[in-house]
Formats: sequence, C-alpha cells, structure tokens
Amino acid sequence: MGIDGQKPLLPLLLLVIATVAVFPASSRSPPSQPAATLPSFRRAPLFPGKRSHPIKVQQRQQYNYQTRYFLQDLDHFSFADLPKFRQRYLINTEHWIGPERRGPIFLYCGNEGDIEWFAVNTGFVWEIAPRFGAMILFPEHRYYGESMPYGSQEEAYKNATTLAYLTAEQAVADYAVLITDLKRNLSAENCPVVLFGGSYGGMLAAWMRLKYPHLTVGALASSAPILQFENIVPPDTFYNIVSNDFKACCS
Ligand SMILES: *[C@@H]1O[C@H](CO)[C@@H](O)[C@H](O)[C@H]1NC(C)=O
Ligand SMILES: *[C@@H]1O[C@H](CO)[C@@H](O)[C@H](O)[C@H]1NC(C)=O
Repeated sequence: MGIDGQKPLLPLLLLVIATVAVFPASSRSPPSQPAATLPSFRRAPLFPGKRSHPIKVQQRQQYNYQTRYFLQDLDHFSFADLPKFRQRYLINTEHWIGPERRGPIFLYCGNEGDIEWFAVNTGFVWEIAPRFGAMILFPEHRYYGESMPYGSQEEAYKNATTLAYLTAEQAVADYAVLITDLKRNLSAENCPVVLFGGSYGGMLAAWMRLKYPHLTVGALASSAPILQFENIVPPDTFYNIVSNDFKACCS
C-alpha cells in the first residue's frame, strides 16, 4: 500500500515550512468569526491579492485550467545523451496579478499519479488563489499520467535502467526547471513561488523548498511523512499511534 493509501488512517499531520509570508499570524481569525477579513501586512505586501474582500466560501468549486506541455531533460544531474520527455502541467492565470504587481505563483508539487486527479482534489489552493491574486500551477510528476519518458508507460517501466530516473530528486528538479522557464516566458521573475503538496507531494514541497530556496518563498506540506524514514522514526511508530488511538476509544 502506498503512502496515499494510508492517508485516511494518518493523524492529521500538518507541516508548515516557512509559510511566514503566506499565513502571517494576523490572518488567523478566532473560531467565532468564520468570515475572516484578509491579513493586513505590516511590511510591504508580498502577495497583492484582493485583501480587503471577505472570504467567500464557494459552494461549487470550478476547476478551470489549461493543459500545457514542457520538454524536460530525463536526467538533470548528468550530461548523458538521453531522450527528453514531455511533462504535462496545468495552469490557471484567471486571478493572477502579474508580473509588475508580483502576484504569487502557487505551485502544487504533483504526486505519484495523474495530475488532473490532484488538481480537482486540492480545493484549498483554488479557494485561496483569488485572495492572493495568485497563479495556480499543477505540474505532473515524471513517470505518471501523461508525463511519461521513453514514449510510453510500457517502455518507461521496462527495467531498472529505464526506471533509474524515477526519483524524488529528479521530480523536484523538473519543477525547478519548469518554474524557472515559465517565469522567464512570462517575465515573471519577481513573482514569489509558494509550494503546496499533500502526502508524498507534501514531501516534495518541503524538499523543494529546502533544495531550491532561491526559487521559492515557502512550502505547505500537508500530511507529509517527511520524517517517517529508517533511523529517524522507528517503523512501528505509526502503528503504535493507531493502536493507542483504538485502545483509548474502544477499551
Ligand atoms: C532495459 O531496456 C532497454 C530498452 O529496451 C535496453 O536497451 C536495456 O539494455 C535494458 N536494460 C536492462 C538492464 O535490462
Ligand atoms: C517557454 O516558451 C518556449 C518557447 O515558446 C516553450 O518552448 C516552452 O515550453 C515554454 N516554457 C514553459 C514552461 O511552458
């Protein structure tokens, strides 16, 4: 079972890494006030959204995006003469206030699957983008969906040699190259990039923020088990938590 398969059982683990600029303390509203006003920035606003408008909870979420493709290097860390592949990405610029007013770019780090599924299941990003005047970007993870090296899934998954480029490091490098190129195309070099991700995608968001701090101002890693690795967290910790939870409520 994959990381995502366990998600419903995982305690809600929300790791927020350097989201200083996105969610300042002043933006947290008391629970009695669901229709909060937008944050008032003490310093010059980094995200020039429609800050004076109250949050509108949308009943029916619309997911409008354009599908585009970007030619990626198969290996970002060598000079080997390898075939390039087409990486799919979804983009929405409906609410974007760019480039002079420096509207932010919300980049969701695609997980292990078809990116359209993640796009229509990440309502949070779509809900907040208008408030921040943000562009929404959903690049697809290599070796998933339509972003298949070697022309087809059959070829890409053939053997250890063809699968060697299916790594988190390469995936995060894809996102770094793509965002750099897109910003250049749109003369949006000065627009801040905020990363989002859930589960494995959240791990990618956190790692990308660490690895490419010059490209990103923050990352929100939701339900991301970034510490669930050998020699960091014992492998039975997750099961201990679930068992104790069960014991507490049912014994
Ligand atoms: C994997 O498949 C490719 C393409 O068919 C082939 O050239 C290569 O030799 C194979 N590698 C291994 C380790 O089997
Ligand atoms: C930027 O523009 C070039 C030239 O039109 C295009 O080939 C490339 O795919 C664009 N980059 C992105 C990220 O869309």
